[in-house]
Amino acid sequence: MTIQWFPGHMTRARRQIEEKLKLIDVVFELLDARIPNSSRNPMIDEITVGKPRLVLLNKADLADPERTAEWGRHFRELGHAVHAIDANQGDGVKEIAGKARELLKEKIERQIAKGMKPRPIRALIVGIPNVGKSTLINRLAGRNVAVTGDRPGVTKGQQWIRFGGELELLDTPGILWPKFEDPVVGFRLAATGAIKEDILHLDEVACFVLKVLVEEYGAVLGERYGLKDLPSELPDMQAAVEVLESIGRRRGCIVSGGHVDYEKAATVLLRDLRSGKLGRMTLETPDEAAQ
Ligand code: G4P
Repeated sequence: MTIQWFPGHMTRARRQIEEKLKLIDVVFELLDARIPNSSRNPMIDEITVGKPRLVLLNKADLADPERTAEWGRHFRELGHAVHAIDANQGDGVKEIAGKARELLKEKIERQIAKGMKPRPIRALIVGIPNVGKSTLINRLAGRNVAVTGDRPGVTKGQQWIRFGGELELLDTPGILWPKFEDPVVGFRLAATGAIKEDILHLDEVACFVLKVLVEEYGAVLGERYGLKDLPSELPDMQAAVEVLESIGRRRGCIVSGGHVDYEKAATVLLRDLRSGKLGRMTLETPDEAAQ
C-alpha cells in the first residue's frame, strides 16, 4: 500500500483514530518485530492516550528471537503488554484475546463486582502501512475481510469482527505514518519492504543493511554468499560497497566489461533478507532506539 503522507493526511488519520478510540477498550499496536522502533509512529503515545495498549511484534517469524525477547522487555518497561506473533501463519494469534483480557483484568473484575456481565473486549488495530494489519484482521476473522482502512480521503462504514466470543475488533484499522523524517528509519523501512516506492536507491539501502548484517550476523552472511574474511564491522560506505561487490560477483550480477551490477546485487540481498532466506534477523536494538 502506498500512501503519500502530507500534514493534512496525518491530521485526518489522527482524527479518525481518535474517533474510533471512543468505541474501544484496548489498542493493538502492530509493529514489525525486525524494526520495532522504526515501524512505530512517533506520536502513538499522544494519539492513544488513556487507552491500554498491547504491543504486537508481528513478522516475528522473520525476526531474531533473542532480539524479539529484548524488545519485549523494552516495551514492558515502557508499561505496555507485549506479544510476538506471525500473522501470516497464525502463530501467537490465538493468545491475543487472553493477553487483552489480562491487560483489562481490573476493569473486568470491577464490572463483575458490580454484577455486570462482561461484554466482549473491543479492540482497534493500529500501525503503519505494510506492517500486517489486514493480514492480522483476516487471521482473527478466519476469513477474508475487505480491509480498506481509512486512507486519507476514504472512509467506510465500520463493522465489528467477533473473535472467539470474547474479543471484538474494528474491521477498519488505524493507519499511522512512520517517522519518515529520520533517514536511518527510512533505510530500515525500505530494507524490510515497508516502503515499496523507489524513493531510496536500492544499492544505498543494501549498503546500510550490510553494515548491520556484517556486525550482527557476519557468519550467516559469509556462509550464504561464500564470502571469506569478512571484517567484524564496516567502518564506512566504501567498505559496504566492497562487500556488495563481492556478493554481486558471487551471484553473477555482472554487466558488460565484467563490472558488477550493484542494483542487481542489492536486489538479491534485499530479496533474501525480506524472504527470510538469510535467516531470522532484526535490524535494530532497544539500545539504538534509546540513543
Ligand atoms: P497492512 O494491512 O498493514 O498494510 O499490511 P498487510 O496485511 O497487507 O501485510 C503486508 C505484507 O506483510 C503482506 O505480504 C503480508 O503477507 C506480510 N505479512 C503480514 N504479516 C506477516 C507475518 O507475520 N510474517 C510474514 N513473514 N509476513 C507477514 P505481501 O502481500 O506478499 O506483500 P509483500 O510481501 O510484497 O510486502
